[in-house]
Amino acid sequence: MEQTLSIIKPDAVAKNVVGQILARFENAGLRIAATKKIQLSRTDAEAFYAVHAERPFFGELVEFMISGPVVVTVLEGENAMAKNRELMGATSPKEAAAGTIRADFAESIDANAVHGSDSLENAAVEINFFFAQREIV
Ligand code: CMP
Repeated sequence: MEQTLSIIKPDAVAKNVVGQILARFENAGLRIAATKKIQLSRTDAEAFYAVHAERPFFGELVEFMISGPVVVTVLEGENAMAKNRELMGATSPKEAAAGTIRADFAESIDANAVHGSDSLENAAVEINFFFAQREIV
């Protein structure tokens, strides 16, 4: 059984589509093992996206991620990491396949509705960033 991390970003939270996005995960056979709504600090966002620190979009990414609350979720199931990425669609909504979360809810590559871990190794690190072991049940 795999676990992966999902973040519903400030744009999707502001649009009031948290329930619709969580339902897509459940309808695809993924289980919510943990979830919470939080406001990231600048330090949180910079640390979470440290791998992108040298990219030209880093500043905007951090500003966007602290612009409002996010919903972080541990998804569990068979092939959870790949399944979540399939449900999300491509990073840019312009390239996201029809019917994916980003095609349906995202506005731009920055305001792209959701984040999902891109490897099992990163999933473990990202889950540990947000959740204590006792919160994952
Ligand atoms: P996410 O999956 O959260 O990982 C990093 C984020 O940076 C990405 O989604 C996008 O929202 C944002 N981003 C902005 N510009 C780019 C870009 N050119 N390439 C990749 N990610 C970008």
